[in-house]
Order: sequence, then C-alpha cells, then structure tokens
Amino acid sequence: MTRLLASELLKEQILINNDTNCDRIDLEQIFLFILNITRSDFYSKSHYLRLEDYKKLGDMITRRNDGEPLAYILGKKGFWNIDLIINEHVLVPRPETETIMELVLSSYDQQSIKVLDAGTGSGAIALALASERINWLIYALDKSENSIQIAIDNMINLGLHVGFFRSDWLDSIQSSSLDVIVSNPPYIAAGDLRLKADGVSKEPVEALVSDNHGFADLNKIIKDSFRCLVKGGRIFVEHSPEQSDLVEEFYKESNYTAIEVHKDLNGDNRVSSGIKE
Ligand SMILES: C[S@@+](CC[C@H](N)C(=O)[O-])C[C@H]1O[C@@H](n2cnc3c(N)ncnc32)[C@H](O)[C@@H]1O
Repeated sequence: MTRLLASELLKEQILINNDTNCDRIDLEQIFLFILNITRSDFYSKSHYLRLEDYKKLGDMITRRNDGEPLAYILGKKGFWNIDLIINEHVLVPRPETETIMELVLSSYDQQSIKVLDAGTGSGAIALALASERINWLIYALDKSENSIQIAIDNMINLGLHVGFFRSDWLDSIQSSSLDVIVSNPPYIAAGDLRLKADGVSKEPVEALVSDNHGFADLNKIIKDSFRCLVKGGRIFVEHSPEQSDLVEEFYKESNYTAIEVHKDLNGDNRVSSGIKE
C-alpha cells in the first residue's frame, strides 16, 4: 500500500466526507489529535499516519458522521482560556456561554466575592472564572454525580480551586450567602427540533431539556437565588433569545431591580441579570 502524506490524506478525506457531519474543520482536528501535533506543525512538516492510526481515523470519522459531537470524540473542548476534559455525561460548552464570562468579569474585579455556578456540567464557567480571579471564592453545583466528577477532574488538571458539590439547584445553599450566582440551566422544551440537531442528540437530555416549555429551571433558579444572594448581590442566567421577555417577568415577580438583558456575539438576547436590593 502506498503511504500518503497526512496532509494529502486529509485532502482525500475532505472530498470523501463532503456531504457528511464530519466537515473540514472536524477532520483537521481529528488528524491533529491522532498525530498529536499542532496545526502549524501539520502544514509545515511531513507527517505520516502509522498503520494503527488508520483504524483510529476511520473509527473517529464514523462516530462523527453518526452525530457524536467532536468534543466527545477528542475528549476535550476549549472554553474561554481553558481546555476542558469532556465526555458524554456533560454538555459540550458553547461559545455563547462565554457571554456570561464577559459580563461577570467586567462587573467584578479582584475584590474577594463569593460566586456560585449552578448547573456546572464540566465546570466550564466556574473554572474559567477561577482562572481569571484568584481572590474569588467560587463554588459550583450540579445534580449529576458524573458532572461533578468530570468538573473535579478538570479542576485538578488545570490546577485551579473551586468547591464542587452535588445539589438539586439551590436547595442546599444558605440564605444571603452569595454575592453572585451564574447559571446556564437546561432551557429547551421537550420535543423541540433543536434536540435533534447534529451533536445535540447525543448530549445528556437532563442538561438540555426543562419542563414547562423550557422555563421550569430558569424560573426556579431566578426565584430561589433571591433568597441566597446578599443585599446588592446579582444573578446572571443564560437562556434562548425568544425566552428573554418571560425571563424578565420572572425577575420582576421576584422583586429584583436593575434587570437587564444582554446580547451575545451574534446580537441575540442571551443572558439576563438582576440585582437583589
Ligand atoms: C445546559 S447544562 C450547562 C453546563 C455548563 N454550565 C455549561 O455551560 O457548559 C445544564 C446543567 O444543569 C444540570 N442540572 C439539571 N438539572 C439540575 C438540577 N435540578 N440541579 C442541579 N443541576 C441541574 C445538568 O446536569 C447540566 O450539567
């Protein structure tokens, strides 16, 4: 068998997989992962796949074409300025969730504050905040034992400190104990077509779907946070753009002030915040 240069093999695979889930960017990432090299290395030097790598390549492309997110296949995903270990037990962190990061970091500097990430999944928001603010006391909870385990693995891997624990939303949180609460809760309605999208169909349903047409968890977190925040404390929650009007009502019903809706990089209403006065 003639051995092709890895860059030539990549071109061949791009043509073969033209009409599939495994696009050019995914294929390139798979090649870099198998060869364990950087992109600039890949294009500036000659590399060949070993015989055993061909099976790995075939298996990974098949999984991607079967709708599995690339992050599960590679076992990792970048979020903000950190690389996270990711598997099928946690949601793949999304770029739009970085909107919460920007808002919280621009609102609070290095002064020591207590922050909670509710529904932490892989630990993405909590760990990215910890990487930026060494003086903050950061806690993060999730109902899923598997999530908490991955979040702790990520914390150890990154050499950061966050207090991770299991909890059903804020049930185990003391009253008036937190300065900031952030949350990217499940907010998609059962039966929504977005659940069938490439990649999404393989993610844990409990990380995506919420009762009451996608509003149940948003409503609960906003309501319960009022009890848990100190006076002057603030909550930031992610939601889908079409939910922002009703989410604003939840804030009003719970007596928050300075209620604001914030846009993501696409210009969509993505995060809402309110202050407990
Ligand atoms: C949309 S995911 C967000 C994960 C992560 N924060 C991120 O942005 O990548 C929602 C998370 O909420 C968790 N969750 C769902 N119901 C919960 C509950 N009742 N109490 C605590 N966490 C819950 C899920 O396990 C999941 O990890």
